[in-house]
Amino acid sequence: MTIPVIAIDGPTASGKGTVASQVAQVLGFHYLDSGALYRLVALASEKQGVDIKNAPELGILAGKLSIYFEKDRIFLNGEDVSEAIRTEAIGLRASTLAAYPEVRSALTTLQRSFRQAPGLVADGRDMASVIFPDAILKVFLTATAQARADRRYKQLIAKGISAKLQDLLRDLQERDARDISRGTAPLLIVQGAQVLETSDLSIDQAVKAVLDWYQSAIA
Ligand code: DC
Repeated sequence: MTIPVIAIDGPTASGKGTVASQVAQVLGFHYLDSGALYRLVALASEKQGVDIKNAPELGILAGKLSIYFEKDRIFLNGEDVSEAIRTEAIGLRASTLAAYPEVRSALTTLQRSFRQAPGLVADGRDMASVIFPDAILKVFLTATAQARADRRYKQLIAKGISAKLQDLLRDLQERDARDISRGTAPLLIVQGAQVLETSDLSIDQAVKAVLDWYQSAIA
């Protein structure tokens, strides 16, 4: 029997991470935050001084990342980098290096290794199109740029981090444009995907929609 995968793709700050991890929790499935892997490559390469334009070197680095996950903490070379990978600067760097085929292929096997019984919920940009094309359920989760910028702004302010809404909106649109227009594994809605527009939905409502689709998919 194949291990079921729920693939949840969508643009930055669409809430897919929160929804995916809660769906995984309800079902008792494993959870893969694939964006965290690109962010780890961004952080590791910055620490090592690798030029963001050096695709071959970034690919080599991605293939030998020393990482592990413990509950919701992420470690790089033994150091807890859970917060360090979440900055806007690392997000932008991740978005740039995620366009390189060398980096994407270096992370493919690692991502597939998360597929373990009883199941996996994976979120990212190419979960349905490239990494898990046989996913039992494919969801494209989205929200307007303004709604996503508002959410990010509130999250940062709640954490005591100062932010400007206009800057967040501009960065987010810049990353959207890059994620959508790149040649390798661009962000797209695959055929058969369920589209979930969350601008006016609560997290609970979004989680319920995904769980309902999953129940229909396995019925
Ligand atoms: O989901 P996120 O914002 O943490 O992702 C950070 C960057 O990584 C994002 O701008 C695009 C890239 N990414 C990707 O190309 N493919 C994935 N499966 C996940 C993330």
